[in-house]
Amino acid sequence: MNEEKLLQSFQTYVDAENKIEAKDWMPEGYRKTLIRQIAQHAHSEVVGMLPEGNWISRAPSLRRKMILISKVQDEAGHGLYLYSACETLGVDRDTLIQELHSGNQNTLLYLIIRPYHGQISAPSDGL
Ligand SMILES: [Fe+2]
Repeated sequence: MNEEKLLQSFQTYVDAENKIEAKDWMPEGYRKTLIRQIAQHAHSEVVGMLPEGNWISRAPSLRRKMILISKVQDEAGHGLYLYSACETLGVDRDTLIQELHSGNQNTLLYLIIRPYHGQISAPSDGL
């Protein structure tokens, strides 16, 4: 099937409110937009952990430290799920993190993470 027919078929499928799976054919711009949006969300989850993590040692009791650690761990998990979604679309976590660190990914998050540069890494599967 040529590109024009694929696009037409894709649009008809989407217009019928069907769901597109990661391995389905989709226009390259559509895939890139999905990856950019999901990656930005993943980055925001991980970046959200940074200021919260700074407060763990300052929490006044063990119980409150545990609550805060749990919250930070939750955010790591959210990031991990979203990075995994990007991987199904064809881009691995390390690449996305490198793009964030280098400022190549078009996101304001880079301005937020600059003070933390070098401290951020992709959540591992072993969380
Ligand atoms: Fe979250």
